[in-house]
Amino acid sequence: MADLAPLSLNDGKTIPRLGLGVWQVPEESVADVVSTAIGIGYRLIDGARIYGNEAGMGEGIRASGVARDELFVTSKVWNEDQGYDATRRAVEGSLKRIGVEYLDLCLIHWPCPAQDKYVETYRALMDARADGQIRSAGVSNFQDAHLDRVIKELGEAPALNQIELHPAFQQAQMRAADEERGVLTQSWSPLGRMTMFEAPEIKAIAERIGCTPAQVILRWHLQLGVSVIPRSTNAGRLKENFDTLDITLTEADMAAIAGLDQEDGRIGPNPDEFEGN
Ligand SMILES: NC(=O)c1ccc[n+]([C@@H]2O[C@H](COP(=O)([O-])OP(=O)(O)OC[C@H]3O[C@@H](n4cnc5c(N)ncnc54)[C@H](OP(=O)(O)O)[C@@H]3O)[C@@H](O)[C@H]2O)c1
Repeated sequence: MADLAPLSLNDGKTIPRLGLGVWQVPEESVADVVSTAIGIGYRLIDGARIYGNEAGMGEGIRASGVARDELFVTSKVWNEDQGYDATRRAVEGSLKRIGVEYLDLCLIHWPCPAQDKYVETYRALMDARADGQIRSAGVSNFQDAHLDRVIKELGEAPALNQIELHPAFQQAQMRAADEERGVLTQSWSPLGRMTMFEAPEIKAIAERIGCTPAQVILRWHLQLGVSVIPRSTNAGRLKENFDTLDITLTEADMAAIAGLDQEDGRIGPNPDEFEGN
């Protein structure tokens, strides 16, 4: 039986432990991918304004026939939309494009420290939450210093921090930093865009259990206690990834995967430097 128990957020809400990420899913196919995933059992859909497919994502949600209140919809405020007023408008834009009355979670996509607007951006999310436009406010790609400024200046820790996390880049320090502050970690690019599928340690575990390398990696995330949002546009692989909820890794398996961490394993930009538009 799939372990679907949701994870708790620091604001009293909950989030599914496994969801679908829709980055790079073309607007013309995203509705199909989203409704197929929801049909398989996915309840969390992770989108963003910058992915350019929010309208199709909303179409997929409606086509699934599953009630809105059974789903968990995330979007993100893009870098050029930071600042109080622009963020309030950005949230409204996402709601309109997706065609929902509220987002379950809205994240600041990147801290963009040189812009130095993430505190007022987070304040805008708090007000959007007070106005019922979003249920939870969170961040993405935040480092300790960024979290600490939000906490110090606004008196609350974000509900969630979505960060790059996969076997080649395990982020033990950032996972601990999130946990100390009561912030749930969520892994982006959890499959490391397939870079570790051929690692002998992962292959050996997959062969012993009788599952795939992707399932081993996703199960590793779940056993770390983080939320995870793999992307697939293929129905078989969507099902394979969801079925990860059914397998179990031993402590020795977890230790073997811990050994795959690399100092330079990051595949995305460095959050202290990235200001991209
Ligand atoms: N906050 C941020 O800054 C940020 C940055 C990047 C990503 N994200 C979020 O994280 C989500 C996931 O990250 P990602 O899309 O970069 O990469 P990912 O989920 O790590 O990997 C996706 C790739 O793996 C393939 N794949 C998926 N399941 C597979 C399986 N079971 N077997 C073999 N191949 C498989 C997919 O191909 P097929 O489609 O052909 O299956 C796709 O090419 C994104 O979609 C987005 O929502 C957030």
